[in-house]
Amino acid sequence: MSEQEHGSSKKVFVKTFGCQMNVYDSDKITALLSKDGYTATQDLEDADLIVVNTCSVREKPEQKLRSFIGEMAPHRSRGAKVGIAGCMAQHAGADLFKQYRGQVDLVFGPDHVPNVREIVGQVEKGQRVLANSFLDNTQYAFVREVVTDGKAGAFVTIQKGCDNKCTFCIVPATRGVELSRPNAEILEEVRAVVATGVREITLIGQNVNSYGLKVPGELTFAQLLYKVAEVPGVERIRYTTSHPRDMGDDVIQAYRDLPQLTSHLHLPVQSGSDRMLRRMKRFYNRERYLEVVRQLRDARPDISLSTDIIVGFPGETDADFEDTMSLLEAVRFEGSFSFKYSPRPGTPALRLKDALVSKRDMSERLTRYQKRQQEIQIESNHACEGQTLDVLVEGPSKWDPEVLCGRSSTFKMINFAGPKELVGTIVPVKVLRGFTNSLRGELALGVDTSS
Ligand code: 5AD
Ligand code: SF4
Repeated sequence: MSEQEHGSSKKVFVKTFGCQMNVYDSDKITALLSKDGYTATQDLEDADLIVVNTCSVREKPEQKLRSFIGEMAPHRSRGAKVGIAGCMAQHAGADLFKQYRGQVDLVFGPDHVPNVREIVGQVEKGQRVLANSFLDNTQYAFVREVVTDGKAGAFVTIQKGCDNKCTFCIVPATRGVELSRPNAEILEEVRAVVATGVREITLIGQNVNSYGLKVPGELTFAQLLYKVAEVPGVERIRYTTSHPRDMGDDVIQAYRDLPQLTSHLHLPVQSGSDRMLRRMKRFYNRERYLEVVRQLRDARPDISLSTDIIVGFPGETDADFEDTMSLLEAVRFEGSFSFKYSPRPGTPALRLKDALVSKRDMSERLTRYQKRQQEIQIESNHACEGQTLDVLVEGPSKWDPEVLCGRSSTFKMINFAGPKELVGTIVPVKVLRGFTNSLRGELALGVDTSS
């Protein structure tokens, strides 16, 4: 049925928890449903369909789901359909219908995002739908509809799933095996989003550095970076997530060759202890990680690095944790997502039952890590004072509509006064003050930042 035939009176509200892949999937859900007359709404009262896109990487998002579904009860009573998508939908499947009896109409995993129109069509006819089978890699088609809603940056997926088996991680069980998207499709999407005014492309996948390696004739990740940089209009390229083991010399070389590649890399290390890294099955050690950091800084001296840290992995001793603290000092990460280890169903780490870390130790370690990380961030942000940074203006600041907000190539958030017309452009901004999580600056138009 065409959009015109259907009318466009229906509204969908999508709530996203979790990682960049979920943000991307949520956008694709909205884009696909728009073909059946759905428009996105931020107002629950308006919604005919409410989809919560879940994450199951840690326990907390599961608690968030529980309260979200509870809050949806009055909307479902007035006739709205309620659906659960994402990783939790994939691994809990039919159990969610039991757990939330009479509260949920559809449950579908990440592999079924491309089929969301059919799924919602069945729900509209009054059926309850469960779609959480894994599709064979030959059956899976990446969604090609593009959504950018006027933003300066866009995510472009290059890969789905993950073939690694990090022992703490549920992702291989929820997003399935790795599948690289054909480079022609990726480049087509890059061109399409750039045509809408997008300046910054973030290539996303669970383990982007292994892109293409298992497909005969496909580009490598480094080659893909060069191709994306050739697309006219692409001013910045970011990518996430990288696995340190797969960070090859060719990608490091790209930091010398490609000015579009931004001076920031998120490179999850998880722990500074070799013993923990072995137990996590990460396949690199501390020394190798530090070597990659040295090479990156050699190729791109101003590169800022952020990471993911897990504290309290089974068996982590005080000495192991001190190794994580000393790694933080050695690298001086500009940002960290740090978490307490959270046992996940079906993951190999559940078998590691020796020397479990107490809740109290976990909390103490996390607090200590985060406190020191924050100090380093403040020091690094103070060090920016007086510098002029190229900033991609993303939009008005959340707190003050008169103030613009953007990001430096090093991924620092900066607020400054300026006209709205600058949104979507890259402008020089002089840093006046550095805070913990952001910078304050002033427009430095007319300043030559090329030297
Ligand atoms: N417990 C705690 N943190 C986890 N992560 C993944 N699985 C777990 C878990 N079971 C963290 C890792 C990963 C990030 C996306 O989430 O640090 O890099
Ligand atoms: Fe999980 Fe490891 Fe794959 Fe990342 S690389 S998604 S942490 S299994």
